[in-house]
Amino acid sequence: MSNVTSLNEVKTQKVLGDFQKQKLNFDLNKLKNALNEVLKIRGFDTSLGIPHFAAIPLTQIPGDPDSIKGNKARGVYWTKPDSTGVEVSRDVKIDESKYSEFIKDFEHTYFKEVFDELKKHYKLGRVRLLLKEPRSTLSWHRDPEPRLHIPIITNPGCLMVIDNSAQHMPADGGVWVTNNVKYHNAFNGGEENRVHLVACVLDYNFN
Ligand SMILES: [Fe+2]
Repeated sequence: MSNVTSLNEVKTQKVLGDFQKQKLNFDLNKLKNALNEVLKIRGFDTSLGIPHFAAIPLTQIPGDPDSIKGNKARGVYWTKPDSTGVEVSRDVKIDESKYSEFIKDFEHTYFKEVFDELKKHYKLGRVRLLLKEPRSTLSWHRDPEPRLHIPIITNPGCLMVIDNSAQHMPADGGVWVTNNVKYHNAFNGGEENRVHLVACVLDYNFN
């Protein structure tokens, strides 16, 4: 009997892996409406220097609008850019824990409710809406901390790859935490934009 239990534990562990579905759930229609509300006020910032990628920050350092500009909307990551396989770091280190203020312009949207609920369960860093254009990919990279995803617009050709595992995260109001501390990538193989709400999570251990 104890052997069965331990086998199940191993199986569960394997299923959980680097993509962990959370017990939280949000209203997909409200998420889509909130995205439309935000887009009426602010377009996606495409000047981040990464092709086919754009962001709208939902949080900032209190009273500091500069904290969400330029490469601070990206943050440090590590990548292996060429045939040498040598790892290099890109961008600047960010003190994620300071990004505690929800952007006032968006306080009337459902995202504020989502933010307040997430805060009850996780220690959050930056919270952003991230756009991935069709037929595009990120670099192969690792980040300083895990990330929480709430897919809002996606298609079957959107997958995230962590190490040697791939996962599609459906837009159904569900919440995922992904192990971005390992090397990973995300691609959009569809023909329309992918939009996720993505938050840095500072107190999540994958083990
Ligand atoms: Fe990443």
